[in-house]
Amino acid sequence: MAFEKMKIKKITCIGAGYVGGPTMAVIAQKCPEIKVTVVDSNKKKIEDWNGPLEDLPVFEPGLSEIINKTRNKNLFFSEDVKKAIVESEMIFIAVNTPTKTTGEGAGMACDLKYVIKCAEMISKYSKSNKIIVEKSTLPVRTAETIKRVLDKYSDNIHFEVLSNPEFLAEGTAIQDLYKSDRVLIGSEQTLSGKKAADKLVSIYEKWIPSEKILRSNVWSSELSKLASNAFLAQRISSINSLSALCEKTGADIDEVSQAIGFDHRIGPYFLKVSPGFGGSCFQKDILNLVYLCRHYGLEEVADYWHGVVKINDYQRDRIVKTIYNYSTTNKLEKKISILGWAFKKNTNDSRESSSIYVAFNLLKLNYEINVYDPRVESERIIYDLILLGVNKSKIKEKINIVNSLDKIISLDYPIAIMTEWEEFFDLEKLSNLKILDFRNILSKNNVKYRF
Ligand code: NAI
Repeated sequence: MAFEKMKIKKITCIGAGYVGGPTMAVIAQKCPEIKVTVVDSNKKKIEDWNGPLEDLPVFEPGLSEIINKTRNKNLFFSEDVKKAIVESEMIFIAVNTPTKTTGEGAGMACDLKYVIKCAEMISKYSKSNKIIVEKSTLPVRTAETIKRVLDKYSDNIHFEVLSNPEFLAEGTAIQDLYKSDRVLIGSEQTLSGKKAADKLVSIYEKWIPSEKILRSNVWSSELSKLASNAFLAQRISSINSLSALCEKTGADIDEVSQAIGFDHRIGPYFLKVSPGFGGSCFQKDILNLVYLCRHYGLEEVADYWHGVVKINDYQRDRIVKTIYNYSTTNKLEKKISILGWAFKKNTNDSRESSSIYVAFNLLKLNYEINVYDPRVESERIIYDLILLGVNKSKIKEKINIVNSLDKIISLDYPIAIMTEWEEFFDLEKLSNLKILDFRNILSKNNVKYRF
């Protein structure tokens, strides 16, 4: 069926993670006439999406309420990838796109193996024309690769590939999806490409004002996502780099940040000093951007963006040094309690969290560490350390995961506050303790440390 005549009645999303789950829940809620199926190769994850609302695999404020209203009405979580592909007119690919660990581009380039696998499955199972939507963040010109794979196994089936990158932020995902600053849809500039884009626009138009739905060519759309993340991370690294200068000069980083942010051309967002950005996206997307720039021979541009990641590493190192200096100056034992393991508040996601790197380096210095996070499970905390190469016996010996704020306070170790969870703002509770508050790291000769 030609795309202009196609009616979108069934949507599939491959990947039931932090993007696939919330995004499809909102589409299902806003489009009750569409059947939305989210599939994943991870059986346990699908079981959890179908399980109790308090144990969904993704924690986001407002998400469980939507799941409660839509699940098994027009929103389904399934392991049956084949069936979901066959019956859908539109398929979103929202699988992970991590940094490559081996082969050409290891440590920098984006690993497309999960995306390619999706394209292969779609190509093998499809029996009718389909619109394929790239939701994952991808390097520029990935759509070309996807199209090649799609056409490999299927004759006489027309696939139109759209780029529709996701701009939600974890912790505010539902609000971001309800009131997106913009929805970006990249398509081939052919009649068929534009018609396919119309179909996706008509879904978003159910709740997003049309002036916020931007259309572009596929390559601009793919690059815009990488560039947006690079800009956001660059602001964090900019303010964090200045926090080091504030320490040396006696300037107060909060005052500097406020003064900068009052300029309407700059604005106040993402100017808060911190232990460095974490999350699964910023670092990998910038490294990917750097890799692309080098691939095209743009060494100066690559170096410029690489600096953003280097400053982030530098900020994490500074925190480790600060804790170490604090212990030695005060002749204390090597003990610390870390408050906050998630990379930011209001999420259970700890991927690339600065807490992991700080703990990892403190373990190398032989610290004993208590950890508390309101949402990250202890298995995940252990897994994060194992991923960095810490062995299980060291974790057993040196890491103590605690299940409440009161408990960690009662242990009376110096406390490093790493994440801005609301419950850590109640400093009354912590008033008799030694606090290193890295949510607002370093200012005015370190007075932000309350020892
Ligand atoms: P995730 O790791 O939470 O979820 C990805 C899911 O895809 C996993 O559950 C995995 O089992 C599944 N999967 C992988 N290969 C599969 C296959 N062949 N068949 C079926 N399922 C498969 O990842 P997340 O965070 O949802 O990110 C997905 C993409 O969205 C990435 O490209 C990321 O860069 C991008 N993104 C992420 C944002 C975030 O805040 N997490 C925000 C915007 C974009």
